[in-house]
Amino acid sequence: MKILSFMLTLLAIIGFSKSSPAQEAKQENGKILIAYYSVSGNTKEVAEKIQEYTGGDLFRIETVQVYPEKYKELTAQAKREINDNYRPKLKDKVANIQEYDTIFVGSPNWWGTIAPAVSSFLADYDLQGKKVIPFITHGSGGVQNTIKDLTEQCKGCNVVEEGWVGFRSRTFGVSGWLKDLGYKK
Ligand SMILES: Cc1cc2nc3c(=O)[nH]c(=O)nc-3n(C[C@H](O)[C@H](O)[C@H](O)COP(=O)(O)O)c2cc1C
Repeated sequence: MKILSFMLTLLAIIGFSKSSPAQEAKQENGKILIAYYSVSGNTKEVAEKIQEYTGGDLFRIETVQVYPEKYKELTAQAKREINDNYRPKLKDKVANIQEYDTIFVGSPNWWGTIAPAVSSFLADYDLQGKKVIPFITHGSGGVQNTIKDLTEQCKGCNVVEEGWVGFRSRTFGVSGWLKDLGYKK
């Protein structure tokens, strides 16, 4: 009986202490943050896939002022803001951003560049020396100036050029991309 209870305790300890594959990936690659902006959900889907694979922490970038729901009005406002280099005020802040070694930054392609909210995110923090991995979703235009502009706006960051560029919410290929970047599930 004593032996049986000893064995059960041992099994419980082994079972509880074993890290999940995602946790192991997290430990090997340092602390990971996945910050994304998404209006219609496509970039969110990619962000969630990255989270699932890497075990990083998700952060949704949101603006204080909500954008118009009507597509025509939304695109017109976005165009004005991009032309004016406007940086909308963001709702929440990542409290402990300095703890993260790697930050995935996700944006939809808006008029060939990143969304103004993502520009605000990059301007709001000191990300010098951080590994920044962009991921972009688009409606058929592809990467255009998104990654180039993100790199320019991310002062002193070590931006990984091989960002994810995908059509709308297409996520097949995300795992392979992360594997190529050295992440293990
Ligand atoms: C304001 C606005 C501008 C856009 N401009 C472009 C563009 O220039 N090129 C492109 O391929 N898609 C463009 N799109 C489509 C989005 O990039 C695409 O639908 C994206 O996946 C949306 O991401 P979300 O669902 O995370 O918001 C635009 C969408 C919006 C709302």
